[in-house]
Amino acid sequence: MVQELTRKRLSVQVQEIAEQTTTMRSLDWDRDRFDIEFGLQNGTTYNSFLIRGEKIALVDTSHEKFRQLYLDLLHSQIDPSTIDYLIISHTEPDHSGLVGDLLDLAPNITVIASRMALQFLENMVHRPFKQQAVKSSDTLDLGNGHVLEFISAPNLHWPDTMFTFDRETRILFTCDAFGMHYCSDVIFDENLSAIEDDYRFYYECLMAPNARSVVAALKRMEPLGTIDTIATGHGPLIRIHLSELVDRYRRWSHEQNEATTSVAVFYVSDYGYSDRLSQAIAQGITKAHVAVELIDLRATELAEIQEVVGRSAAIVIGTPPTEGSASEAAQSALGLILANVKSKQAFGVYEAGGEVDEPVMPLYGRFIDLGLSSGFGAIRAHRPETPSGAPTPSIYKQCEESGTDLAQWLTRDKTVQQMKAIDVNLDKAMGRIAGGLYVITAAKGDIKSAMLASWVVQASFFPLGISIAVAKDRAIEALMQVGDTFVLNVLEEGRYNALMRHFLKRFAPGEDRFIGIETLTAQNGSPILKEALAYIECKVESRMDGSDHWLVYSTVEAGNVSNPEGQTAVHHRKVGNHY
Ligand code: FEO
Repeated sequence: MVQELTRKRLSVQVQEIAEQTTTMRSLDWDRDRFDIEFGLQNGTTYNSFLIRGEKIALVDTSHEKFRQLYLDLLHSQIDPSTIDYLIISHTEPDHSGLVGDLLDLAPNITVIASRMALQFLENMVHRPFKQQAVKSSDTLDLGNGHVLEFISAPNLHWPDTMFTFDRETRILFTCDAFGMHYCSDVIFDENLSAIEDDYRFYYECLMAPNARSVVAALKRMEPLGTIDTIATGHGPLIRIHLSELVDRYRRWSHEQNEATTSVAVFYVSDYGYSDRLSQAIAQGITKAHVAVELIDLRATELAEIQEVVGRSAAIVIGTPPTEGSASEAAQSALGLILANVKSKQAFGVYEAGGEVDEPVMPLYGRFIDLGLSSGFGAIRAHRPETPSGAPTPSIYKQCEESGTDLAQWLTRDKTVQQMKAIDVNLDKAMGRIAGGLYVITAAKGDIKSAMLASWVVQASFFPLGISIAVAKDRAIEALMQVGDTFVLNVLEEGRYNALMRHFLKRFAPGEDRFIGIETLTAQNGSPILKEALAYIECKVESRMDGSDHWLVYSTVEAGNVSNPEGQTAVHHRKVGNHY
């Protein structure tokens, strides 16, 4: 833990990116996983921008963990009290965490944002401030040619989001959209192969559940004409590979929208942990190749909610507030959802973790009474034992696994059809490929997971390395990102049955996989099964996309054998269409 803490590195960087336009980047080299999105492996950046026309505008700020570094950097660039406008692309704290500080330094600054963002900001900073709400096509002339045009881009990734386009420099400021969690001091997207995996992963986590909104935003970008740079809020700025990377958003979003099976995940923005928990559930659903739509109950028209309910195979909803500013809209939306669901649909409910949640079990019961099938058990998110009552990483993991369970249930018939579609003779031939029997175990923080595996082979001598094929919808996959460690437990011929039966069981989301199993702890922190013939400690070096599996290449760091006479259990199969 000490090592973890001392490893943290924060730095800042400033560079002119166009005439009279400067980026101030906060580089968060080791941002934790589970902070917001899963699987962060390359840190992230929070990008802020200064545009100096005759008037001066600051686009977004930074995460509050950068308070001193960012404000010192800002002071080195400009006297903050001379900034005329603070443009807020959206109000999530990783970009707006220092708005209160800016208001202290520049009390006369005018905050420019969408109407909804201004409402959220009022709740965040608890003081009056000069403000101007803007919507699509509104403009702001800073002078020296810098005419800023605003583009509404709701749900990318909060409902209050907007883009800003500078007609002079042709820079489009998009905050989360087109971003990636990739920390490097290279300002632009020079090396596509270095960033494209993170670009895709970020899209899948944050944008895929809002694919309809992505398509709508892309349409609104068309009349802007040539865009020279997309100045994102996270990661490198997009300039060199701009058309390629924008095309990927277009292609991926159309693929999402064409999916025949889709789940609606409803949340209430800026309420409890509703937003983050809904993202984790959405991520779990996406892992099992089912499309998701994330819908904010407080910001979506009732007619649209009704339409989404009608086209969804399942409905997932966080407990809405029963009091406060968002309660009226959220409760009306809940009433509409309950009136429009059909018994052939599945559902899931999760506690949002706010102060005045609708109780979760009665809500669960209402869906059951309406004849819907439960996709997963009600998720209880509030944790009084944590200082802020915040959900723990294990709750986020439970959310992800619940989403995957629901998606697997929805696609069960299709999966069987796919298995049956394989040519019978080919299927038998494939079944002659044999493997050993192993249990992979991994731990990270308070999360542990395990998986029975047989698609394991040695892959290199120097350094010693192995490759494992892990299905993309496996729970343990989230703990096998690049840089993660795990243990490969080798099962022994003649004494593997109990372990195999145990780890073949279907575990409930978040369930402890190790109850009744004797373990030791490896140097890398993962469990070693005492009954295993051998164990090998591994570190993930790379992952290759193998359609429905990840091919995970790992180097080997330590290991031992418990029985020198023992032999590895061999897994013989009859067909190749399953394990
Ligand atoms: Fe990067 Fe939605 O904040």
